[in-house]
Amino acid sequence: MFNYIFLLTICIILPITIARTYRDSSIDIIGGCNAKLGEFPWVGVIEFFFNTSTTHLCGATLLSPEYALTSARCVLTYFNKAGYIGHTVRFGIIDLNDTTASNNSFLDVIAHPNYVYNSSMVANDIAVIK
Ligand SMILES: *[C@@H]1O[C@H](CO)[C@@H](O)[C@H](O)[C@H]1NC(C)=O
Ligand SMILES: *[C@@H]1O[C@H](CO)[C@@H](O)[C@H](O)[C@H]1NC(C)=O
Ligand SMILES: *[C@@H]1O[C@H](CO)[C@@H](O)[C@H](O)[C@H]1NC(C)=O
Ligand SMILES: *[C@@H]1O[C@H](CO)[C@@H](O)[C@H](O)[C@H]1NC(C)=O
Repeated sequence: MFNYIFLLTICIILPITIARTYRDSSIDIIGGCNAKLGEFPWVGVIEFFFNTSTTHLCGATLLSPEYALTSARCVLTYFNKAGYIGHTVRFGIIDLNDTTASNNSFLDVIAHPNYVYNSSMVANDIAVIK
């Protein structure tokens, strides 16, 4: 199950997130092209609101109508950052400034119990949000 999710992260979330996050074409996926609005409605971006800024820090992929996959680092790190005031996840947008897409809060966050992120290793960096 986790291997499958890991592959899903590497093959689907990562490339799409990178392609969507950066508009600088020099760092686009080689041979890639811009997604059209509505083409990948299951791909989302998690937006964090801090007292002085709003930033798009992580991607998320819908696994079912209620659950989405993201990284443990995302949900465990940014929620605890100084100045954090809120977050939302938006699905299916292609413009990060598009705030018309639904604002979805999370009801629950389930990070992998063996998640490790320190200077010597990164392991099990996945989480499910509801
Ligand atoms: C934002 O929050 C941080 C941490 O709580 C605080 O140090 C900082 O002064 C705040 N900035 C503003 C503009 O409220
Ligand atoms: C999104 O908003 C930011 C801040 O207002 C602005 O600098 C940027 O150019 C906008 N990007 C697009 C694609 O509209
Ligand atoms: C979503 O939330 C942001 C920040 O609170 C707000 O600016 C935006 O208007 C909201 N969008 C919708 C569709 O509710
Ligand atoms: C990183 O985490 C692993 C697993 O918890 C631990 O064995 C290791 O000592 C940690 N390394 C550092 C540099 O904290």
